[in-house]
Amino acid sequence: MAANWKMYKTPNQARDFFRDFLPLVSGHERDEIVVCPPFLDLPASVEAAKGSNVSIGGQNVHWKEEGAFTGETSAAQLLALGVTHVIIGHSERRQYFGETDDTVNLRLKAALEAGLIPICCVGEVLEEREAGLTDDVLRRQCVRAFHALSAKKAAKLVVAYEPVWAIGTGKTATPELAAEAHAVIRREASEIFGEEFAGKLRILYGGSVKPDNATALMSQEEIDGALVGGASLDAKSFAAIVKY
Ligand code: PGA
Repeated sequence: MAANWKMYKTPNQARDFFRDFLPLVSGHERDEIVVCPPFLDLPASVEAAKGSNVSIGGQNVHWKEEGAFTGETSAAQLLALGVTHVIIGHSERRQYFGETDDTVNLRLKAALEAGLIPICCVGEVLEEREAGLTDDVLRRQCVRAFHALSAKKAAKLVVAYEPVWAIGTGKTATPELAAEAHAVIRREASEIFGEEFAGKLRILYGGSVKPDNATALMSQEEIDGALVGGASLDAKSFAAIVKY
């Protein structure tokens, strides 16, 4: 169960969140819980979550170890802070910041190589869904993102299916629609990495997950967890989703 805070919260607001959130989920063992705050909130978040059952993730990572890449962050820098996970290829990165399937692949390889657990986002935009292209888009995004990766290297991979039309819009994919898309992703993973890998692959659903729709979504066998934006900013609301 992963929280994506996007560009919300200052370090103090992050501390307040963990003060309220950690007691609500302490002892929760069914799910791995990850919170992905903005980069500047990472030190405060790692510190606040230390010793708890909540891991901290970044929202992006560069593929080079270091260099003249203004505004970027390396895997080593994330790891040095105690960060364990990283979101890669979020649709907002693709839409507004020039992220492509190829740069997603580079970031993914670098994250896995460094030992970070990547949450790789895929998903179609509304026009693609309406044109009946959803399956093609998901397959293309997976093929390109996983290019030149072995099942062994990709062992820790997590995929998030996030239909772009459902992100921050209040429109959720129906549990059935989401499950169908997850099945497409799992089949593609099976083609690329083999059946055993695909069977174990964790695929999260993201896009307007809220406390009141989490149970219906999570009851689909194909849906292994959630990547939550807006509803993860409030401790009570994210805890309710985690404990659906
Ligand atoms: P949302 O965002 O829950 O606010 O729709 C999900 C995401 O973008 O990861």
